[in-house]
Amino acid sequence: MNHSDLLQVAKEFGDPVYVYDANKISSQFNRLTNAFSGVPKLRLNYAVKALSNISILRLMQSMGSGLDTVSLQEVRLGLMAGFAPEDIIFTPNGVSLEEIEEASALGVQINIDNLSILEQFGSRHPKVPVCIRINPHVMAGGNTKISVGHIDSKFGISIHQIPHLLRIVELTKMNINGIHMHTGSDILDIEVFLYASEILFETAKHFPDLEFIDFGSGFKVPYKAGDIQTNIEELGEKLGKRFNDFCDEYGRDLTLAFEPGKFLVSEAGYFLAKVNVVKQTTSTVFASVDSGFNHLIRPMLYGATHEIINISNPEGKERFYSVVGYICETDTFANNKRINEISEGDILCFRNAGAYCFTMASNYNSRFRPPEVLWYNGKAILIRERETFEDLTRNQRDVKDLFQPKKQKAEAK
Ligand SMILES: Cc1ncc(COP(=O)(O)O)c(C=O)c1O
Repeated sequence: MNHSDLLQVAKEFGDPVYVYDANKISSQFNRLTNAFSGVPKLRLNYAVKALSNISILRLMQSMGSGLDTVSLQEVRLGLMAGFAPEDIIFTPNGVSLEEIEEASALGVQINIDNLSILEQFGSRHPKVPVCIRINPHVMAGGNTKISVGHIDSKFGISIHQIPHLLRIVELTKMNINGIHMHTGSDILDIEVFLYASEILFETAKHFPDLEFIDFGSGFKVPYKAGDIQTNIEELGEKLGKRFNDFCDEYGRDLTLAFEPGKFLVSEAGYFLAKVNVVKQTTSTVFASVDSGFNHLIRPMLYGATHEIINISNPEGKERFYSVVGYICETDTFANNKRINEISEGDILCFRNAGAYCFTMASNYNSRFRPPEVLWYNGKAILIRERETFEDLTRNQRDVKDLFQPKKQKAEAK
């Protein structure tokens, strides 16, 4: 998408607004598929949490993707978008047995990440095939909040608990049809994948009835030109070959599964916000936009850096700006960054806004969540409307009969 396309979307749908480029999503999907073309059975399950709009899920389905889900609600969104239950894997963490049973009743592939639920589920439903999430004890991921495969992490069943796990499987006679790991997001080094994969291969040897091995996700995408990214092609070549060798050793072709979120949708997303105020202080020039961490929390939550472009004045002289939101707390999107000269009313474009932006948005400060627009074949299609005041109040119950207004003393005279 070019700047004038984006400005056109802001004009048509107002600001702030999220825009997703369908072509970029499909080119990323094809890139990953091509990288692993040497593997006979490949399965990509899009991680719904990254961007869960039903129209995006339909786009994923049209490309042949499955879904990775972490809540019953994500499962339902997938079913609503037309996915067959067998094309959905449910990988929750810390949820109740009831939620897992409910998902299982819908027919999706269950992935269990703790021994307690594994034993309970296996005893009650020994015939339901189950995948197990292994914690390989590998330190991976761009920062501690998104590193989930290390020894202190709450995720997965420790590789040191394999003997216990095997006793549960033997006792319940349950069928383990897959093993899974996900060690973190923004993994820089493919060696980490390859190292953790070896642990998964070793673990796989304990389970004779596997159908698939799921390597999770965590591919690092670039956040600006020249930024470091996971070398998918090299990973495809190395891991693909190693996987095929493992299948020979195992005795049959298994499916190699991934569950990419960011890789598929991060770069396809643009978040557009308008500059309300340019404020010069003694040390800084702030550009305050009509948004905040209610719409894009990643900079405040993870220290993520989203490139910001002034698409209203892309040729303007570069100056230093701190781009901030309108929230009643510090909500800094960028600190003293060079941006083309900003005037009040300009539209700023935040890049990499496809993954974990809308899905992490909230109504904090009682603001509306913005609309979402899909850019498809040169056309802008509204896929979620801007919220309204009715949306904010819809589920509230007003106890107006319980409390009577009382004037403050000064006013009461
Ligand atoms: C189990 C699991 N799979 C896949 C993903 C997607 O990761 P990414 O967005 O880095 O591709 C996540 C992200 O949190 C996850 O927890």
